[in-house]
Amino acid sequence: MGSHYLEGALAPVHEELTLTDLKITGTLPDHLDGRYLRNGPNPIGEVDPATYHWFMGDGMVHGIRLRDGRAEWYRNRWVRGPVAARRLGEPEPPAPGAAGFDVVGPNTSVIGHAGRTIALIEGGLAPYELDDELGTVGACDFGGTLSGGYTAHPKHDPVTGELHAVSYSFARGNRVQYSVIDVLGRARRTVDIQVTGSPMMHDFSLTEKHVVFYDLPVTFDARKAVPSAVPAPLAAPARLVMDALIGRVRVPDPIAARAVTSGGTGLPYSWNPRYPARIGVMPREGGDADVRWFEVEPCYVFHPLNAYDDGDTIVLDVVRHPRMFATDPLGPNEGATTLDRWTVDPRAGKVIESRLDDRFQEFPRVDERRTGHRHRYGYAVQIREGVAPDDTLLKHDLDRGTTLTRSFGHGKGAGEFVFEPSTPEGAEDDGLLLGLVSDLPSGTTDLMVLDAATLETVAAVHIPARVPAGFHGNWVAG
Ligand SMILES: [Fe+2]
Repeated sequence: MGSHYLEGALAPVHEELTLTDLKITGTLPDHLDGRYLRNGPNPIGEVDPATYHWFMGDGMVHGIRLRDGRAEWYRNRWVRGPVAARRLGEPEPPAPGAAGFDVVGPNTSVIGHAGRTIALIEGGLAPYELDDELGTVGACDFGGTLSGGYTAHPKHDPVTGELHAVSYSFARGNRVQYSVIDVLGRARRTVDIQVTGSPMMHDFSLTEKHVVFYDLPVTFDARKAVPSAVPAPLAAPARLVMDALIGRVRVPDPIAARAVTSGGTGLPYSWNPRYPARIGVMPREGGDADVRWFEVEPCYVFHPLNAYDDGDTIVLDVVRHPRMFATDPLGPNEGATTLDRWTVDPRAGKVIESRLDDRFQEFPRVDERRTGHRHRYGYAVQIREGVAPDDTLLKHDLDRGTTLTRSFGHGKGAGEFVFEPSTPEGAEDDGLLLGLVSDLPSGTTDLMVLDAATLETVAAVHIPARVPAGFHGNWVAG
């Protein structure tokens, strides 16, 4: 079976473009002065369709510069670490060093923090800083304050502006790392948290009082990583060694780097039925000994929508996958992807799980002024089986229990939308939603700017090029 990650809306593009003075329908609000940036995998050159996994494609960042009601440019650029540069036939930049491994350029998200633009990825791979026009500056270790890779899902605390995150890497053994990056871009606090083994911990949640860990049964799978990392006669003993090591002790960097850099294009994580499914709750200023763990029904969560403290309980709104990489190594593709509410009740020592919406959906986003605080609205995109984009955006009103939908029409593929408030003090849905909608038949893409209250179009920036479906996007003002 060929990889569905190389076809249709996900098919990679082969050129880096600079397109200026883009046509606009409607009127771009004046306060949109900045860049909409979105990251996604876009493999360089030929990859093996039998094993290529979406998560392992070289990162390509797409950006649209808006100013004074105009769309000044669209650019798409690969992130250039040594591996990407080699694949592009260019001189290799320095290795990322302490910033993490270099397997693919970061392909998962891109944010602005402390005046820097940072392309993000997880699993011990290095994040990279970009310049204003998406050129690669170099690997990012936050001024030498954070090593061993970061995550694609840090969260700005809306009160302090600090960046909170939980990072994982199989090379960290049975530890994940909570970190706080200050407003100057330096880690002011890192806390190692012991988990059950070596999970894929894609995201986390932050409330006013707590940090929440999703220790779920998708774990590093040495069988998928090692065989191509060592000569065949050594593969079996190496596997045994790796099995013994993974999730128990920290793996020495040279061995870890070799295991992942030589791992081909497959994803070295799979469903682990022997692994517990747990939620960890830690007071923000606490440490490993303060984490309380609560069992949940086995499942996988890539993305919480938001979380908040509610009296003595903690509310987690999450997009839940019933299984992940259990029967299909080229997933996500294993069952109904729903919006659920998990209420952690520390007194009762349990989590109450309920369903908010049973439409298949992913890429949930909230008004990020509400991060860690009670939210009323959540935005997500409807998906087909797996994560193939569909043509419909969802706006959930969680107070009323209703959902407003916006279809972009047949043949369109809607990516993640991000909320940008009209004014700093405006109401929760007083603002805009920005996201890319591709039109497969014509090979074009629109940056759609919607009224978040109604989901109606405010403006559309027309990009005469196809932007492959990708992962996460953000608005970076200024
Ligand atoms: Fe993600």
